[in-house]
Amino acid sequence: MTAANDRPIGVFDSGIGGLTCLKELKELLPHEDIVYLGDTARVPYGTKSRETIAGYARQDIAFLKKFDVKLVLVACGTVSSVMESVSIFDGSGVENYSGVISPAVSAAVKATKNGRIGVIGTPATVRSQCYTSAIKAIDSNIQVFSRACPMFVPLVENGYTDRENKVTRLVAEEYLGEMANENVDTLIMGCTHYPLLKDIFSDIMGSGVSLISPGAEAAKYALSLLTEKQLLSDKADCGSCSLYCTDSEELFADNVAAFLGSDINASVKKCIL
Ligand code: DGL
Repeated sequence: MTAANDRPIGVFDSGIGGLTCLKELKELLPHEDIVYLGDTARVPYGTKSRETIAGYARQDIAFLKKFDVKLVLVACGTVSSVMESVSIFDGSGVENYSGVISPAVSAAVKATKNGRIGVIGTPATVRSQCYTSAIKAIDSNIQVFSRACPMFVPLVENGYTDRENKVTRLVAEEYLGEMANENVDTLIMGCTHYPLLKDIFSDIMGSGVSLISPGAEAAKYALSLLTEKQLLSDKADCGSCSLYCTDSEELFADNVAAFLGSDINASVKKCIL
């Protein structure tokens, strides 16, 4: 084992959405140490301009860099959608990184049988057309149906995730109603917060529609990247999980416990970026 392999994986999002990535990472890479940052003081990112999002993302990366991370996973669809055009990693000193777009698109293109893919995301993500371009670059015959869903992130951050929640269901019916009639067989939940609402999506879209979680796909990609670069930890013990947020620790800890369950041995601390 080398010191390079012992370094943690850094993961960030504007809030708790990136936990969908962290959860999969813990499953696939149980021996890795993980440092997670949720920028809860500034969530949502998805309604902000590209320049503002890039500025926030650079601060998030600089924070994770202090932990000498061996890989940074941008577990945020919104930041991932601007990261190529605004080069957020330039000058950061981070060698290995990935966003969620390309892993999610690969999974969706594999999953679709009828060549009709739906994409939902934040306004910034949908405006960037990043999912559509990436899908079309693989197969120009695939038809893509996109819809921005700005109200999902605040609902998730406030814990409105229960399948029976009437408010969230009403909002989801409004956002997904049209798409449900487009005969898509695959839906990219293009914001990492959205998989927390997947039961409601499935009820509306129909159980035959494959739901793609970008955070989970990015975690799978992390496994292949670390394997290829021979950077996997070979510790026998379970990896540690350090969680940071930029607003109330209590609210964040409640959300974390509700989503990850109490068996994840994680500490939650507030930080300043
Ligand atoms: N989880 C982020 C994403 O994937 C949420 C965006 C936001 O903060 O609006 O886009």
